[in-house]
Amino acid sequence: MSEELNKEIAKRRTFAIISHPDAGKTTLTEKLLLFGGAIHVAGAVKSNKIKKTATSDWMEIEKQRGISVATSVMGFNYGDYKINILDTPGHQDFAEDTFRTLTAVDSVIIVVDVAKGVETQTRRLMEVCRMRNTPVIIFVNKLDREGRDPFDILDELEQELKISVRPLSWPINIGAKFKGVYNIYEHGLDLFTPSKQTISERVEIDDVNSPLVDELIGSADADKLREDLELIDGVYPEFNPHEYLEGNVAPVFFGSALNTFGVKELLDCFVKIAPSPQPIEAVERVVNPEEEGFTGFVFKIHANMDPNHRSCIAFVKICSGKFERNVNYRHVRSDKMMRFAAPTAFMAQKKNIVDEAYPGDIVGIPDTGNFKIGDTLTSGELLHFKGLPSFSPEMFKYIENADPMKAKQLDKGIRQLMDEGVAQMFTNSFNGRKIIGTVGQLQFEVIQYRLLHEYGAQCRWEPISLYKACWIESDDEAALASFKKRKHQFMATDKEGRDVFLADSNYVLQMARADFPDIRFHFSSEF
Ligand code: G4P
Repeated sequence: MSEELNKEIAKRRTFAIISHPDAGKTTLTEKLLLFGGAIHVAGAVKSNKIKKTATSDWMEIEKQRGISVATSVMGFNYGDYKINILDTPGHQDFAEDTFRTLTAVDSVIIVVDVAKGVETQTRRLMEVCRMRNTPVIIFVNKLDREGRDPFDILDELEQELKISVRPLSWPINIGAKFKGVYNIYEHGLDLFTPSKQTISERVEIDDVNSPLVDELIGSADADKLREDLELIDGVYPEFNPHEYLEGNVAPVFFGSALNTFGVKELLDCFVKIAPSPQPIEAVERVVNPEEEGFTGFVFKIHANMDPNHRSCIAFVKICSGKFERNVNYRHVRSDKMMRFAAPTAFMAQKKNIVDEAYPGDIVGIPDTGNFKIGDTLTSGELLHFKGLPSFSPEMFKYIENADPMKAKQLDKGIRQLMDEGVAQMFTNSFNGRKIIGTVGQLQFEVIQYRLLHEYGAQCRWEPISLYKACWIESDDEAALASFKKRKHQFMATDKEGRDVFLADSNYVLQMARADFPDIRFHFSSEF
């Protein structure tokens, strides 16, 4: 183990901010960049979120896809720390993308709107965090607006996100009467001065009973604060960083991202308690970041917007060792050695060619179709990192060729888009037709558009009424064979050739479960 490597690893904090659209993820990201000196004025981060209302605003989507290359990973230095924020698409139709990004982070910050509480997308994303025991910190945002009682919000967070919470800051009033936040973690009082640009002053407080608190916020609010803090200490056990790191307790901060309030408290605590790059489980063994040998995996592929250059950027998360430019690495799936002449790092919203990178960092590798989501790169070892399982899509359509002269282009386009992880494809074993499964309608539109603009191929969608794709397995070969025979019209294979039962209704699935007790049905591809 080299000392240099260990030092670089200890400095790094790689995380994602997740939220339901509109809770304030973009605003918070921007404020964190402001603190890190990565940008100098608020408003510099162009959001990569796809317009929430538009479902077919093509140019907007394309434009925003372009922007999101730059904002996909934002690295900056803060004090002694190197921070990497991995952006996730806000639009729910791209939830798969977010799931995959979560495989590349060591922790997560969840943003919740104080008026709206826990919303659907937050709940779903939290399920993925829970699956992976990812440590989460919660930021309750928009305290400058009228919202819910903070104790109610805490109860809701615990119930809805199924995690114990521990407030580390506490608001003094809310909405028009919002006066500030008491920092429980560091015993300080932050008084609220609404500002989109500047950072509020902190008053250090040794004792919340000090008359200074009455002076600063008035006796009535001071008494209420003391009461609240007493209640918090009575109800919530003392914060234990280990419980947070194990994914059992989520510290909660309150603030207003738009007004740059409570953000520094969040960031200062985050760098101290959030994990540096963690060991990652591969199929063969657990890989520790401190190992000398380089390992990494592709968690995202971003297609070039320019149709004349069908190149992509593969985003590689470095898991162990030092990554170096122009050094030969093994691309495990193809078993080829590859050298990368122009890997880019993402610092302060700029893409620059880098000579080296460390665990926790993300490098962008220009690619012309060698990489698939989930691919592993190593110094030489045969190793496969485990990706996230595929989940059953929500919507299904047959994809058909609309231009017989371009069948090859269509095949290639579909294959590459699926490798990029744009959607899932199933091949019906009965009639050989290809079925595309997505999370939302927007993905179908993106696929059609990209096939045309990047591959010159035209596709047509045909309806198929399906409820879920179920990956099936059984210990009893004969039962499996008999099931596949009975349901042959509804059997398909996924891209790895695994058996999938396409259930056209919940009722049919229930019946199948009852009729074939030896078969196990799964809504995700890893079980
Ligand atoms: P998202 O990425 O999670 O979708 O949310 P985003 O940051 O874009 O914030 C959604 C809206 O909420 C934005 O307003 C933003 O200005 C506002 N917002 C974020 N933080 C706060 C806060 O602390 N207090 C208040 N009052 N509002 C906040 P918008 O009108 O949709 O966009 P914009 O025109 O202001 O950019």
